[in-house]
Amino acid sequence: MSPSYAHITGWGMAVPDKILTNHDLAKMVDTSDEWIVSRTGIHERRIARADQSTASLAAEAGLRALQVANLHPGELDMIIVSTSSPEYIFPATACLVQDRIGAGKASAFDLLAACTGFVYAINLGAQAIKSSAVKNVLVIGSETLSRLVNWKDRNTCILFGDGAGAFVIQASEEPGGVLSAVLRSDGSGGDLLSVPGGGSRHPASMQSLYDGLHYIQMNGREVFRFATRVMVEATQQTIESANLTMDDIQLVIPHQANQRIIEAAARGLDYPMDKVMVNLDRFGNTSTASIPIATVEAIEQNRLKPGDNVVMVAFGSGLTWGATLIQWSGPLPYRRKVSPRKVQWFARTRSLLARLRRRIEGILWGRE
Ligand code: UT7
Repeated sequence: MSPSYAHITGWGMAVPDKILTNHDLAKMVDTSDEWIVSRTGIHERRIARADQSTASLAAEAGLRALQVANLHPGELDMIIVSTSSPEYIFPATACLVQDRIGAGKASAFDLLAACTGFVYAINLGAQAIKSSAVKNVLVIGSETLSRLVNWKDRNTCILFGDGAGAFVIQASEEPGGVLSAVLRSDGSGGDLLSVPGGGSRHPASMQSLYDGLHYIQMNGREVFRFATRVMVEATQQTIESANLTMDDIQLVIPHQANQRIIEAAARGLDYPMDKVMVNLDRFGNTSTASIPIATVEAIEQNRLKPGDNVVMVAFGSGLTWGATLIQWSGPLPYRRKVSPRKVQWFARTRSLLARLRRRIEGILWGRE
């Protein structure tokens, strides 16, 4: 069997239209535009409308990625949605996306590695392809963290934003694509960044709501110190394991958490900031969605081209961190254009009919 390489062949992002500026936040909590910009680099972030959710943003980003890859949703073998703000505890948000986009033969599951999740998901999808188990994988990072933020807590509410980004990963015999990855975790720091309520440890109750356990809790200073250390380590390790050096890297796309963390990492790597993608000024920290969103913008700005070596590096709750080195590709050659969006009508109808069939079966079996 010829070796299979895992190439990124499609990409897409979806962010809500609604913008929340630092000036808006200064009317809600004791903060200022000057403080937020100087401590984080963030100017504004996007906030989901009431009718938008993690699944709807994920499906939109996924469809856009399929459009770029020119891949029919029915060809997908696997959908991984990385998120810390899932639609529900279960079912998995990935299953809702599978139904929405009409990916009839795909497995679908969520991955929770917080802001590092997209790097984990890329590696998982790429390994499944390299093992020849699957050919076409859709990985999505999607968050509506605005639903988990305490809008009275100035330590956290200034940081986060909503959005989604997606990659299509496909098998090819052409060398390139995902070259290496390093994934790490340290659960001893789990309490530094968490949403403690609503799970089995602190089930939702009047008391858990009263104590605010359903909100994001964070020790910002500790997370900051951890982040600056591991971003450098993980980048170096993934480059070394591909037998390359920083000189071979055309672009670094870091998790968009804080301008100061990103600059500290670039200094630690002795790498110029003009080769580091930053767009957190307009989107804030969208957690696991930040890397794919920044990637889409890097491509639009012509900063990432086929053949380039790009490192994506992230850290987050868990604690988790990781990096992946990718030789950038682009859509695989194709004979005819497909339109993933055109099958949406069939997907909705199929979903409706499946629900109807279950209802009828339920009535019939109930009578027996
Ligand atoms: O995806 C991972 C998500 N998490 C992160 O990336 C968090 C990483 N950490 C950070 O980005 C930074 O630690 C923060 C931006 C959260 C905070 O910046 P900092 O420079 O570490 O500030 P600090 O926590 O040391 O607080 C300095 C002061 C404190 O006042 P005192 O105690 O010195 O009087 C805070 O109470 O700034 C105060 N402060 C604020 N002031 C105005 C904290 N938040 C605010 C605010 N506006 N929003």
